[in-house]
Amino acid sequence: MEFVEQLKSSVDIVAVIGEYVRLRKSGTNRYTGLCPFHNEKNPSFSVHAVHQFYKCFSCGAGGDVLKFVMEKEGISFYEALKSLAERYGIPMPKRSQYADEDSKLRGALLTMHELAEDNFRSNLRAAAGAEARAYIGKRGLAAETVDHFGLGYSERSGRALVKLFEQRGFPAAQMEQSGLVGKRQDGTLYDRFRNRLMFPIHNETGKIIAFGGRALSKEDEPKYLNSPETPIYKKSHVLYNLHRAKESVRKEDRVILVEGYMDAIGVTAAGFPNVVASCGTALTTQQVQAVKRHSNSIAVNFDPDGPGSNAAERSIDILLAESMKVRIVELEDGLDPDEYCKDRGADAYLARIEGAKGYFYWLADRVRAKQDMHTSEGKVAVLNFLLPKVQGISDPLERMTIANDVAGYIGLEQGMVLSHFRKAVGDRSEKAIERPKSVLRHDERMLLIALLTEAEVRAEIIGQMKEIGTIETLPSRRIFQAIFALDEAGGRVGFEEVNARLEEADQNLLAQAVLNEDGEVSREEVLACVGSMLRSNEQYLKLQIKTRISEAERSGRFEEAIRLTGELQGLEKTARAKRGNQ
Ligand code: UTP
Ligand code: MN
Repeated sequence: MEFVEQLKSSVDIVAVIGEYVRLRKSGTNRYTGLCPFHNEKNPSFSVHAVHQFYKCFSCGAGGDVLKFVMEKEGISFYEALKSLAERYGIPMPKRSQYADEDSKLRGALLTMHELAEDNFRSNLRAAAGAEARAYIGKRGLAAETVDHFGLGYSERSGRALVKLFEQRGFPAAQMEQSGLVGKRQDGTLYDRFRNRLMFPIHNETGKIIAFGGRALSKEDEPKYLNSPETPIYKKSHVLYNLHRAKESVRKEDRVILVEGYMDAIGVTAAGFPNVVASCGTALTTQQVQAVKRHSNSIAVNFDPDGPGSNAAERSIDILLAESMKVRIVELEDGLDPDEYCKDRGADAYLARIEGAKGYFYWLADRVRAKQDMHTSEGKVAVLNFLLPKVQGISDPLERMTIANDVAGYIGLEQGMVLSHFRKAVGDRSEKAIERPKSVLRHDERMLLIALLTEAEVRAEIIGQMKEIGTIETLPSRRIFQAIFALDEAGGRVGFEEVNARLEEADQNLLAQAVLNEDGEVSREEVLACVGSMLRSNEQYLKLQIKTRISEAERSGRFEEAIRLTGELQGLEKTARAKRGNQ
């Protein structure tokens, strides 16, 4: 047996996940709890003890025990394997392939980033860095700020890092994987960043994992060039400056979110170290979760222009889904956070932060500005825009407060607003209850479970099942097909094998079927389900023929109608005979 399988079969997934989630037994082999991958009040997270997988029906997270540890700890496959092996006292094979290569590569990439930072920093002090120093002066950055943020300069030659890495013996393949080096068509290597002001990007533990590079002149495109995704840099997981900001985010119990590197630097320099930047990508759930560990209060301070406000509006939904308390900071005269701090000073900026509107009022203002509030159409349009946002408010108290306030705020009659809001809230709770219900029929589910878990019963019924044409009309048809195909290929037919052959939507269905099971499925029950499938198959066939008969009659094709009627009678006869046998 391969080591991975051996490990998986010796660890108890319920015990491992139980260290992170309070699990409650909710079926013979099933446990449920609050999902650790998103914020929720009602459990939609399940673990199956026998099939050894977890699944959240709300956020879609799911997988085996290794995936869980990887995602939860943010570590690589190899590291998860090692950590579980250690925890369970299972010796790792001495020379496991995927193994050390993975952590060796990550180690090499981190070292290359440290070397690059050193190189960029010393370039900035050297003669070649004159232009960059002048730019820094123009932007009003103090020497200690430059130092604090580790800013540097990538020289023009385009060979500096390549040479440095070659000297240190890094193979070309690793250089390319670092994202710091590119490869031309003729195979020669070159530095990705040339003649730019360099901003190191760190992970939460403070290791450099990427860079952003700003052009020094307007003509240079793009304005910011960023590292691509690499084995150590997942853009959607990283917030710029979080490793420096997190302590003061905790202390202040508030984080300021800005868009740009220069904004984060300017705001910090003005005396607000609790600032992070999203770095030009749309805000993601993972980024919110990273910051939520330190505070759940956030002041969003994006650029005042159109794209900035649109990004702020989009970020609200993601922040609310994670139950963050959201305020939106507005700065006058079209200034961005960096400019505002320099131009108006720290006190003025603090006043803007403290006076920031709750997101709901900001949204209301934004839509109000687009509508004619003197007309009732305008008011209704505003209401319709705001209604779905109410559904995003998870705290019932806040929801009621806002529902009460908003009527006056948009100048609508309170009764009308409240009844609309009540309806929206009602829809929301209905959805929450509906979610875990299976879309599969009882017999469909039972048969899937039996085919997957009871080898003897499977052998007994699978031939019959393949004959049932209506299976093609079931939501779970592709799961049945996967089981049939595996069976025909003569392989093992288990949860993992079938799951591996499915697309995500079908994997969800399969998880649902398996997690809905309660207790053992008896042979009698399975046979009864086969019977019920056969009967609905018969009915389906009969219905099809009946439709064709009436179509034929309507268009005067009587001979065909008679032939079909004969077919129908034949069908009924064999069905009666079959039932007699049973
Ligand atoms: P901004 O242009 O607002 O950034 O873009 P900024 O940091 O305030 O820039 P300057 O130096 O004051 O003009 C916001 C962020 O979007 C990303 C960068 O992360 C930037 O910090 N961005 C912007 C890019 O990745 N590429 C670009 O070409 C522009
Ligand atoms: Mn700016």
